[in-house]
Amino acid sequence: MSKRTIMITGGSGFIGSHVVRLFVKKYPEYRILNVDKLTYAGNLANLKDIGNSPNYMFVRADICDYERIKGIMEGNCVDGIIHLAAESHVDRSILDPFTFARTNVMGTLSLLQSAKEVWGSRPEGFEGKMFYHISTDEVYGALAMTRPEGVEPPFRTKASSGTHHLAYGEDFFRESTRYSPHSPYSASKASSDHFVRSFHDTYGLPAIVTNCSNNYGPYQFPEKLIPLFINNIRHRKPLPVYGKGENVRDWLYVEDHAKAIDLIFHNGRPGDTYNIGGFNEWKNIDIVRTLIRTVDRQLGRREGEDDGLITYVKDRAGHDLRYAIDSTKLQKELGWEPALQFEEGIDRTVRWYLENQEWLDSVTSGDYMKYYDEMYGNR
Ligand code: NAD
Ligand code: DAU
Repeated sequence: MSKRTIMITGGSGFIGSHVVRLFVKKYPEYRILNVDKLTYAGNLANLKDIGNSPNYMFVRADICDYERIKGIMEGNCVDGIIHLAAESHVDRSILDPFTFARTNVMGTLSLLQSAKEVWGSRPEGFEGKMFYHISTDEVYGALAMTRPEGVEPPFRTKASSGTHHLAYGEDFFRESTRYSPHSPYSASKASSDHFVRSFHDTYGLPAIVTNCSNNYGPYQFPEKLIPLFINNIRHRKPLPVYGKGENVRDWLYVEDHAKAIDLIFHNGRPGDTYNIGGFNEWKNIDIVRTLIRTVDRQLGRREGEDDGLITYVKDRAGHDLRYAIDSTKLQKELGWEPALQFEEGIDRTVRWYLENQEWLDSVTSGDYMKYYDEMYGNR
């Protein structure tokens, strides 16, 4: 196989760090170039274990800086892009929608235009190139909690693989589902998805979009439900459950997402969309109770001892009721399946956060950001 240079944007964030790690380890013949602005969500410590690998490079840059991105692509002969850089937290988007439009929409457009210009000016054109855009299931809006006659949710349905799983409704997000974003975050991701598809349809840029459900696992910034609550349970702080805790999310272990990205990057059809999800629906309140039991058990406390930390707070504005992904297409066409059962994934995740308190303390205090401007300049 020829030497390839793959630019991974947002590689110092939660999912990006798992994708970078997988590619650096699995493909020593590739050069992996992590381009990240290192916002509050980007942390070099997330890649400490592979930071010195000979096939790994890091550049601090803002994806919105079109000239700089073009220069980076030209200078490094980039021939594949896996684009994860984004503002990713729904609550922040409600407070500051402009930042989300800038990074998620204009940043994606800047990358697309760079790829079109740089690759288009090479003799081989778009041959052998790939622009892979990582998106979210939130662009589809919200699903209802419905059920077959006489059956109480959650009920069992059958996944394409033949395994049974629990579901809180009969409907799922499919690749053909109409976009209906509700938060400024999902609206910005929807807009970026449309731009990616427009570059494929208009200019012939080889591009793929995937829409994934909620990820969990190590290195997730503790503003998101699972790491925030694990940390709070440990320190016996209140657990702010939005509304009644009845909202449903479909959870996928982050390494399973990274494996799907690898498979699709190498084997997906340009111009196509693939949905990625765990067939693993949970109500928030049930996740919270599971987290309490797991943290209590791992810390040697009595299981359920910390149930009293649950505190119902005002609901998130525009809070989507239910997400559930149908990933049949990916399973049938490319043979992907989530490898990890949720109970094992949660156990592993809780253990990781409890064993990496230093990482949690550093990201909650902001200490990890102190030296970035000195080291890389303020970009
Ligand atoms: P994250 O917030 O943990 O990381 C985002 C990364 O992008 C950080 O390293 C940050 O420094 C970088 N970044 C932000 N703005 C940038 C800019 N202007 N230029 C360069 N780098 C910038 O996000 P995540 O949870 O890892 O999500 C990664 C991608 O996956 C996002 O596109 C998100 O929409 C998508 N996604 C996330 C989930 C999930 O559950 N976390 C699920 C589906 C899809
Ligand atoms: O579905 C994919 C999306 O999943 C990604 O695109 C987003 O980047 C990612 O952040 C995630 O969005 P959510 O809003 O679903 O994740 P979050 O962890 O913020 O919240 C999960 C659920 O828990 C949601 O219903 C809101 C609720 N919640 C969250 C927090 C932070 C609470 O009840 N209390 C909280 O403090």
